[in-house]
Amino acid sequence: MTQTVLATGGAGYIGSHVVAELLATGRRVVIIDDFSNADPDVIDRIARIGVGRPELVEGDVRDPARLDAAFGRFPVDAVIHLAGLKAVGESVADPLRYHDVNLGGAVALFQAMVRHGVRRLVFSSSATVYGAPRSSPIVEAAPLGALNPYGRTKLMIEQIIDDLVVAEPAFASVSLRYFNPVGAHASGLIGELPRGVPNNLFPYIAQTAAGVRARLSVFGGDYPTPDGTGVRDYIHVADLAQGHLAAVDFLLAGEGKGRNTPVNLGCGRGYSVLESIRAFERAAGRAVPYDIVARRPGDVAECVADPSRAAELFGWRARRGIDEMCADHWAFQSRLMAS
Ligand code: UFG
Repeated sequence: MTQTVLATGGAGYIGSHVVAELLATGRRVVIIDDFSNADPDVIDRIARIGVGRPELVEGDVRDPARLDAAFGRFPVDAVIHLAGLKAVGESVADPLRYHDVNLGGAVALFQAMVRHGVRRLVFSSSATVYGAPRSSPIVEAAPLGALNPYGRTKLMIEQIIDDLVVAEPAFASVSLRYFNPVGAHASGLIGELPRGVPNNLFPYIAQTAAGVRARLSVFGGDYPTPDGTGVRDYIHVADLAQGHLAAVDFLLAGEGKGRNTPVNLGCGRGYSVLESIRAFERAAGRAVPYDIVARRPGDVAECVADPSRAAELFGWRARRGIDEMCADHWAFQSRLMAS
């Protein structure tokens, strides 16, 4: 029988790639999204990839009536919870909104899952739950902590799931801790559409290469890293999406019951800001002018995953390297400029 997966936030940057990968395996996918940070057009663009069309329930995950409508209409086998706010700076300025949307959404969703007897959950967590990592590469057993309200919501949702699986031992959950997702779908049809000035490095580099921004600010040139700039574990969004598929397969095979298993999704290889700029310049064939400026408050020198648990549990590993990440990111940016 065709399996049905419900993806909250399925119209967003990561969600749309997860949905495309799920459809490509022949599953039915139901998206719940309120389009607060996504373009409604994305549903058509996913369909144009040629792997099928997702079902859509438009609404807010904090709304129990919308959730009941979705669970009532479709025989959901597993849920991937991606909906949530994700801008660190905004979370510092408006923490209550972050707690309301992220925690409120998670609790309402988990209550609906319990009401409807759906017990397989993949949660979109983040390497931000490691706070300021004491060592790198980072294993899942590393100490946890959060440096800002956004990070606290990710950590608290993981803890809420930890509590839930104790009370409901038939429940099985995987919390995927993403490192730095970049790139776009190989079709060029879906990718990241940052609103306003991008906070993250790759969208900023892409817009600078495109001439939308004059110069990139490199935040800090005096970190204890080989070239003095921050090192991150960038992961192609298609690899990240396939990591979700692997987690769903793991749960639907009956694994992980009574547990919330944290799993890193990263490549296990770090690139500095300057290395990333050079790779992007090669892929785009354009210069990315930059200035090295002061460190950004709250940034850490290095954040790289130990991705071995994902390989052991799911047989998953990231396959795409930095050149492919840059090429696909640039192809999407170029299409945006042409349209
Ligand atoms: N950077 C710049 N210039 C910019 C933007 C970023 O030099 O304009 C640098 C940062 O200082 C850092 C690197 O590029 O060294 C990556 O920065 P990003 O903002 O792209 O990513 P972060 O690692 O800071 O943040 C990401 C996610 C957060 C998450 C965090 C920790 O965006 O949601 O990882 O897991 F909280």
